Amino acid sequence: MRAMRNIVILISGRGSNMRAIVQAAQTERWPAKISAIISNRRDAEGLRYAEEQGIPHAVVANGDYPTRAAFDAALQRTIDGFAPDLVVMAGFMRILTAPFVEHYAGRILNIHPSLLPNFPGMATHRQALAAGVRMHGATVHFVTADLDHGPIVTQVEVPVLPTDTEQSLAQRVLIQEHIVYPRAIRWFIEGKLSIEDGHVHIAVETNVR
Ligand code: GRF
Repeated sequence: MRAMRNIVILISGRGSNMRAIVQAAQTERWPAKISAIISNRRDAEGLRYAEEQGIPHAVVANGDYPTRAAFDAALQRTIDGFAPDLVVMAGFMRILTAPFVEHYAGRILNIHPSLLPNFPGMATHRQALAAGVRMHGATVHFVTADLDHGPIVTQVEVPVLPTDTEQSLAQRVLIQEHIVYPRAIRWFIEGKLSIEDGHVHIAVETNVR
């Protein structure tokens, strides 16, 4: 039997993706454990859920560090204290330095609420509405030093309705995020993901990707 994998989840706020991942890991009995939830904000709502669930959690507050490099080094020390096989960014609102990202190369995932490479950065739903696209969505990707441009694991499309506001669109995308992100993480945990020439290969016998 494959050894249990350790997952460390990074959050900055609400933590609804984190919650979906924790729940999927439990109900689907992944060969993995959520070793820790780490937030860069003391007031992150998601920390309360970690507390309730008895999941180890920590705060590394970026405001406590003079530079990006100093913060990333402290964050890395804290993460590595939990010996992760995989680091999962779930609404973690920080741009990371290259040494940090390289340290976790091939074992750090992010979810971005757009169909990348469209609309990297912030306010993706507003960007989608402004562009008038008919299809929007979310992307799970490996994190590289190139912001929101790492190798894509999976994407989900969400139609943009004529009546949509930024909020209604965000809400519809979020529901799908809660499905695709746990699925992608499970693929990683099961050893089904590999990166070849900057593209992700998924060893699953379905057409779901
Ligand atoms: C999600 O839409 C995620 O894609 C984006 O930030 C939001 C975080 O939501 N990066 P939550 O904290 O997981 O509820």
